[in-house]
Amino acid sequence: MTNEYQSAQLTELDALHHLHPFTNHKALRTGGARVMVRGDGPYIWDSEGKRVLDGMSGLWTANIGHSRKELAEAAYQQMLELPYYNTFFRTTHRPVVVLSRKLAELAPGNLNQVFFGSSGSESNDTAIRLIRHYWVLKGEPKRRIIISRKNAYHGSTIAAGSMGGMAHVHSQSYPVYEGFRHIIDPYWYGEAEDGEQPQAFGLRAARALEDEILAVGPENVAAFAAEPVQGAGGVKIAPASYWPEVQRIVDKYGILLLADEVITGFGRLGTWFASEHYGMRPNLITFAKAVTSGYLPLSGIIVDDEIVAAVTGYDEDFHHGYTFSGHPVSCAVALKNLEIIEREKLIPRVREYSGPALAKLLAKFADHPLVGEVRSVGLLGAIELVADKRTRRRFADPGRVGMICREHFFREGFIMRAVFDTMVTAPPLIWTETQFDEAEAAIGRALDLTLKDVAGELAA
Ligand SMILES: Cc1ncc(COP(=O)(O)O)c(C=O)c1O
Repeated sequence: MTNEYQSAQLTELDALHHLHPFTNHKALRTGGARVMVRGDGPYIWDSEGKRVLDGMSGLWTANIGHSRKELAEAAYQQMLELPYYNTFFRTTHRPVVVLSRKLAELAPGNLNQVFFGSSGSESNDTAIRLIRHYWVLKGEPKRRIIISRKNAYHGSTIAAGSMGGMAHVHSQSYPVYEGFRHIIDPYWYGEAEDGEQPQAFGLRAARALEDEILAVGPENVAAFAAEPVQGAGGVKIAPASYWPEVQRIVDKYGILLLADEVITGFGRLGTWFASEHYGMRPNLITFAKAVTSGYLPLSGIIVDDEIVAAVTGYDEDFHHGYTFSGHPVSCAVALKNLEIIEREKLIPRVREYSGPALAKLLAKFADHPLVGEVRSVGLLGAIELVADKRTRRRFADPGRVGMICREHFFREGFIMRAVFDTMVTAPPLIWTETQFDEAEAAIGRALDLTLKDVAGELAA
């Protein structure tokens, strides 16, 4: 059996038997999926033998790159020793204890206790339950409303999907859970009014939180939940004025701040957590993805001493948990992953080298006829594709041109994701000059090819 035959067969069987996440299944039936077979450092290979530079770190996950032997060895050793035991009913094990301690050390402020799950969605569901439980324990059961933002992505379960602000997710939630409100996202390029400067817009977007708190009654508000940088929504980076004003409002009304760091945790912005980068003081941080660099599923929520005090002062179970909460093999892999991030000094490297290198690379395309804006913070970047640079007018049928561009990127050997017509990137923390040069060449070619395809639609 040749590799080609295996690959064609896999594609066919995949379309017949595998329901993919976030996929148009009709199109998949006819077009099939690309079969990925191997990863190594910053690259992955498909079944046709094509090597591509992974500009998305998998799915914002592989911060230390693909196929590091040390992580495989950590998993192997743990599987030989204790492959599984639960953490229910007053049992624990070494990897979960050591990892909890490590995360408490790395987390900002007085966030010292960790609850584990296997996905970002689960960790946000846990956060929602814990936040509401906390207010009940504090004697304020009316505080149930969680305010979040339009276009936020907090996961796909019904509760996390409802807390998220994506209209297309809500449209298939049947129904969206009550108790969530969504305010404007701090997306200056897309939301600012004519002539409104970023800092003024940042203040306006933050003050939408105060308006919403007052509209629903402060006594009913439990928390504000947000990604420090909106990732899946299109790498939307708030102006500098935004987070200090949000923090002021959260403090003023005594509501909890939940930072969803599922994408931004573990070095992406040049700090362990983005909360540190922005001077945020969250009461809860949810994490997932890069805690293991995606080698095994693991997620969780780190909570502050105040919440822990409420929970530990209550002499009854918190009726919540997952079979795989604190899975020993995932925890062992996470510990090794964090050790590598520290040993290789990858986080200061983002601040000193790779973050500035990404910003410099993207800036080279700011004048391209298709590009409305480029932006980045740390290792999160975006390129806005527009039909008219001057007026910021989008192309008809949002997402169509992003898809064309994404295909060109892939053919040029580079993976970027399309969020409608915003091309986003989240490179791993290990890129060197070689990868930045390859990315620059691929982006240049892919943008030019996209331009050729849509030239007739551009403003004169
Ligand atoms: C900010 C954020 N929160 C939560 C999630 C959900 O994580 P998961 O897909 O592991 O459930 C994601 C996934 O991309 C995310 O980006």
